[in-house]
Amino acid sequence: MIVTLDGPAGAGKSSTARALAARLGWCYMDTGAMYRAVALVALDRGVPLDDQVLLAELAEGITIEFRNGHVVIDGRDVSTEIRTERITQATRPVADAPPVREAMKRVQRRMAEGLDVVTEGRDQGSVVFPTAALKVFLTASPEERARRRHREETDRGNSVPLAEILTAQSRRDEGDRTRAVGAMKPADDAVIVETDGLGPEQVVDLLIAMIEERCRP
Ligand code: C5P
Repeated sequence: MIVTLDGPAGAGKSSTARALAARLGWCYMDTGAMYRAVALVALDRGVPLDDQVLLAELAEGITIEFRNGHVVIDGRDVSTEIRTERITQATRPVADAPPVREAMKRVQRRMAEGLDVVTEGRDQGSVVFPTAALKVFLTASPEERARRRHREETDRGNSVPLAEILTAQSRRDEGDRTRAVGAMKPADDAVIVETDGLGPEQVVDLLIAMIEERCRP
């Protein structure tokens, strides 16, 4: 069974998807981390970020695993490295490239084959898993999302002004929404969940109730 969680950055997708997968005892797939991983390997190997064919070959050629909250590429733990600003920037042209998205769709479907999976991203319900048992589009107001990001950065010891986070976030949202292929949008049959004022546990409870409802004979 597949549950998809799509939505903008800061809506609480990662913490929700991780906690939901743990509660259900299912696999967890972080597709943003997969695009980030391709960008990292491309930079390491000197693959130009505008060579879409080579990037797509790379996407299908590397092995990405999710092990206890860690992202591992070809046996190397890259969890921290893929979250740096350098990789966030490099991921944009990678995720915008249609051949890379086609390759990722195949890889993601192959990874989920025969398993129970909670997958998070931008296009999981709308493109990659159109027949998923439950499709959720998690969202929150721009201010709430920026505040959460600001708290995360502060916890990591980074003092980034809230206004700066809000501006960067609007730019990313716009890029995600207007991407020619694989644009971020709720699937037609997605349930929209607004997470303002809700903690991850409350959102997980809500989603578990929806899954139980759908699985009831
Ligand atoms: O979610 P995260 O910020 O880690 O995503 C990294 C990048 O990958 C973002 O630029 C996002 O737009 C892109 N992405 C995507 N499709 C997905 C998941 C992420 O294009 N399914």
